[in-house]
Amino acid sequence: MNKYAVIGNPIHHSLSPTIHAQFAKQIGLSISYEKILAPLDGFTVTVKNFVSAGALGFNITVPFKVEAYDLVDECTSNANIASSVNTIKVENGALYGENTDGIGLVNDLCNNLQQLIKGKDILILGAGGTTQGILLPLLECQPERILVANRTKVKSLKLASKYSKYGKVCGFGLNQIKAKPVDIIINATSASLDGKMPEIPSGVAAGALCYDLMYGRQTPFMQWARANSALEVTDGLGMLVEQAASAFAFWHGITPETKQVIKSLRETID
Ligand code: ATR
Repeated sequence: MNKYAVIGNPIHHSLSPTIHAQFAKQIGLSISYEKILAPLDGFTVTVKNFVSAGALGFNITVPFKVEAYDLVDECTSNANIASSVNTIKVENGALYGENTDGIGLVNDLCNNLQQLIKGKDILILGAGGTTQGILLPLLECQPERILVANRTKVKSLKLASKYSKYGKVCGFGLNQIKAKPVDIIINATSASLDGKMPEIPSGVAAGALCYDLMYGRQTPFMQWARANSALEVTDGLGMLVEQAASAFAFWHGITPETKQVIKSLRETID
């Protein structure tokens, strides 16, 4: 059996096995794709055991993406710049890493939501690992500029300085956001996990596409966006499926169809 998995902590709610089973069915491929809970201090051991058991590849989710980057033998330039890996291919015992989060977001925005990123003003809330994973693919779409706003300002300044060679990125504190509307707001903070919303002026959402990278429920950010005249409000389900599609292509060399998969998952989780 072709062995694949997603490794994280927590992991029980992961939709990745369902998504990869649907992709595999599309091309008549027989795979096993399981969820593996790694202890917080046991990511490397978990990976070694899975590889010894004959794994061909696996996804990595919170909180192990940076550890995964440190563990791989080689990785793509995209993963290298993000210093974070969410997909690993095993070949002759060697681990090859990629990060498909950013391309997943871009594909959802461009192909599913029909958004043009080129020339747009984008505001990203948060400057953690998630933001680090999406910045390069977004900048490659040539937005007018990306504003990265973070509660801890020094982190957004650091990210802006690291990525400014790839496009126009400015870093600042959440409390410095002006009420001036932007085209796209992306919530990449983990505030929704605590049922919270980053505190920012409401005027910024007027007419914007507001995208929460969390999926499956009406997050405080999504409710805030609706209450403040956003043009369109979406969660991150499309990104989840698109990043999985890119991971599938990284392993199997075939990009699966995603629209039906997003539709069927939407029906089960809403
Ligand atoms: P991830 O890998 O999900 O990005 P992370 O690296 O821990 O996780 O980053 C979490 C991000 O959410 C950070 O930008 C964090 O802000 P700080 O750097 O100031 O900690 C942000 N965040 C978490 N809770 C928040 C809240 N209640 N309001 C605003 N920002 C929050």
